[in-house]
Formats: sequence, structure tokens, C-alpha cells
Amino acid sequence: PTAVDRALDAFRAGDPVCVHDFADREGETDIVYPADAVDEAAVAHMRNDAGGLICVAVDDAVADAFELPFLADALDHPAVDDDPAYDDRSSFSLPVNHRETFTGITDEDRARTIVELAAAAAAVDADPAGYGPAEFAAEFRAPGHVHVLRGARDGLGGRTGHTELGLALAEAVDAAPAAVVCEMLDDETGEALTPEDAAVYARRREIPYVEGADLVEALK
Ligand code: 5RP
Ligand code: CA
Ligand code: ZN
Repeated sequence: PTAVDRALDAFRAGDPVCVHDFADREGETDIVYPADAVDEAAVAHMRNDAGGLICVAVDDAVADAFELPFLADALDHPAVDDDPAYDDRSSFSLPVNHRETFTGITDEDRARTIVELAAAAAAVDADPAGYGPAEFAAEFRAPGHVHVLRGARDGLGGRTGHTELGLALAEAVDAAPAAVVCEMLDDETGEALTPEDAAVYARRREIPYVEGADLVEALK
């Protein structure tokens, strides 16, 4: 099987995948999970073995239904450019907590927020008229401890970040349109884990490692 096949099989089973984007983009490898499969152990896995920010990517239609803005639009810096150096724009929206969490940061609380985000995304997907901003606000509050990312409208045709790469994996296996991503950092240097070290880690843990370019080619 190809790396893409192994990644799709893992996602279908609710298991994680390591996704390196592109050497000329972030050059980062994220641990990526289908959001509907996340539990406390998965959150612990991401904070211990990845160490970056734990974020939930939802597709554009879902973010629209939730009426979640891009965070960059909330700040107006007229004379300066807030866009990242490696892409046209950030995918960050607001950080949220499910209302039935306490502080929001524990493994239990973040897992709860993440699976409920996946369920809400699935509800929008099943019936866009049946789940809107009122339903979202009844279930979630901001600020919170899980960062929501908005996928590009055209998916991988619009942007090729981990946001869209994760969502493309979820879509390809008919999971809820929500994917969790967390950057892998090097515990020694504090830098992004190199693709070589990420691949070694993935092999040791029997987690599929896949290149963004291969996902774009297979799923775009
Ligand atoms: C959130 C980020 C990460 O890079 C994450 O991978 C999502 O962003 P992108 O779609 O730009 O890769 O900034 O922690
Ligand atoms: Ca660590
Ligand atoms: Zn990224």
C-alpha cells in the first residue's frame, strides 16, 4: 500500500496520521486525528508526543453554519500585514470550550470539546438548515482551549495547509468534516521536528507518515 492508502486506513479506523506539509511552506509535521475518534488518550498523545497547539479544523460550510469568523479579521492593523510568511492567510478562528467542561484544558475537557465539535460538524453536514449559530452557542463558549480552524472553501484547491490536508483525509473516509491537528516539536531544540525525525517517530509508533504533496495528488 502507498503512504496515502495507509493514512486513509488509519483515519478510517480512528487512528492518527503524521502529515508533513511542504518544505517550502511551514515544513512542519502535525499529528492528525479524525475529530470524531478523539478521546482522552488521544489528547494526551498529542500534547506529549507532538507538543504544539491542539486545533480542530472544520470545513468552510461548517464554520459558516457556526458563524465562526477568521481571528485575523477581529484585529484591524491598517498599516501592517498580519498574514503568515508561508501562506496567504492563517486559518485560525476562535478558541472554544464545550459548555460541559470545567477549565477546558484537561485531557478530559479537551476531548469532550473536540468530540462535540465533530458531532456538531456532522450535524451541519447532515442537515445544514438544522444546526446554526444558536445551536452552536448553546453548546460552546469562547474563549476556550481548543482552537477552531476554518478550512478553505475549495478545500485543497484553495489552500494546502494542515487544516485542509486533515479535512481532505476526513472527507475521503466519510468521517465528520472535522480533523484535529497538532504540530510536532523537537523536545531537545524546541524547533519543529524535522521530517526525518518525524518519519522515524512514526515508524517506531506504527503511525502512517505521509507527505502533503502525496495527499494533494491523491485527494485534490
Ligand atoms: C495551528 C497551526 C498549524 O500550522 C496547523 O497545522 C494548522 O495550520 P495550517 O493549515 O496553516 O498548516 O498554525 O497550530
Ligand atoms: Ca514531548
Ligand atoms: Zn500547519
